[in-house]
Amino acid sequence: MLVLGLETSCDETGVALYDTGAGLLAHALFSQVDIHVEYGGVVPELASRDHVRKVLPLVQEVLQDAGRDERSIDAVAYTAGPGLAGALMVGATLARALAWGWGIPALGVHHMEGHLLAPMLEEESPPFPFVALLVSGGHTQLVRVDAIGRYRLLGESLDDAAGEAFDKVAKMLGLPYPGGPHVARLAERGDASRFDFPRPMVNRPGLDFSFSGLKTHTLNTVAACTGDGELTEQDRCDIASAFEQAVVSTLVIKCRRALRQEGLKTLVMAGGVSANRYLRAELKRALAKEQAAVFYPAPVFCTDNGAMIAYAGAQRLAAGQFDEADVAVRPRWPMDELPPLDAVGAVQ
Ligand code: KG4
Ligand code: ZN
Repeated sequence: MLVLGLETSCDETGVALYDTGAGLLAHALFSQVDIHVEYGGVVPELASRDHVRKVLPLVQEVLQDAGRDERSIDAVAYTAGPGLAGALMVGATLARALAWGWGIPALGVHHMEGHLLAPMLEEESPPFPFVALLVSGGHTQLVRVDAIGRYRLLGESLDDAAGEAFDKVAKMLGLPYPGGPHVARLAERGDASRFDFPRPMVNRPGLDFSFSGLKTHTLNTVAACTGDGELTEQDRCDIASAFEQAVVSTLVIKCRRALRQEGLKTLVMAGGVSANRYLRAELKRALAKEQAAVFYPAPVFCTDNGAMIAYAGAQRLAAGQFDEADVAVRPRWPMDELPPLDAVGAVQ
């Protein structure tokens, strides 16, 4: 089954063609970073308008790259939520229109399920069951995954998501949006041992996270270093490094705890923050000590992309799931409302 996937939930337009037999045939991505950078964050209306401009040319691009004709497409998958309502509507409307015109089914995909299943695009894909750490700009969650659609939330952030904390700290350090990769780059030249940053909530039982205290601690550190003058380059690098280390060790501690609690040895990490090289290395190192394995997507599929939506949609479409022809999106959408794959026949 050949599935066209469309991702337009935030500030990246992603399109891909995934074949359930041959795998990923082509994918294309347009990042809107340059459009939003001067505002220091995503401007929803500008995001929607740019998706309108980009999504159809990207569809043509992937068809050409894959050497396929549109008539060979069997179904369309699109991100139906969570995300920005207007941005989601662009992908949903186009997907439904294409599917109607081509006489094929379409399915709205959950963006976080897309992230969660992105490691399956790799040659070595994780075996079920596993614990997934989803770390993006909007979510920080630990989820037990027994099969596609069989998800149990184990813990989540009570306030800011990890990516959001990275973005806010980036602003404090005078770095552009989206801040995560910029903070990570500064951190490489920093000395974290200069400061003593807290590891939030690690001394309490449970698997929830909280990053707002760490953010305030960072702000206070910035203020203390600034004094009457400005931060030096070394101050900025050291603060970035201390912050990154605090986030990473908190995530690592909770991942190990989740694996132990669930009696599992496989961890999957996905979402924008999973592109962080220090986090990838630390998690691998910590889990190797416990003979546990960690899987994550290729960096290009950590942040938003069309391939993960095409893949997640293809699994459900191939199992017979599809949506009615109305155009509906869900800006807020708890992932545990998704039907298990082995029960989709009942929910069409
Ligand atoms: O998954 P994603 O592309 O979009 C959402 O669904 O939110 O994640 C974007 C988030 C942003 O907060 C960004 O700063 C963060 O992921 N991010 C990183 C890195 N690359 C992206 N955070 C830390 N280190 C990185 N290398
Ligand atoms: Zn995302």
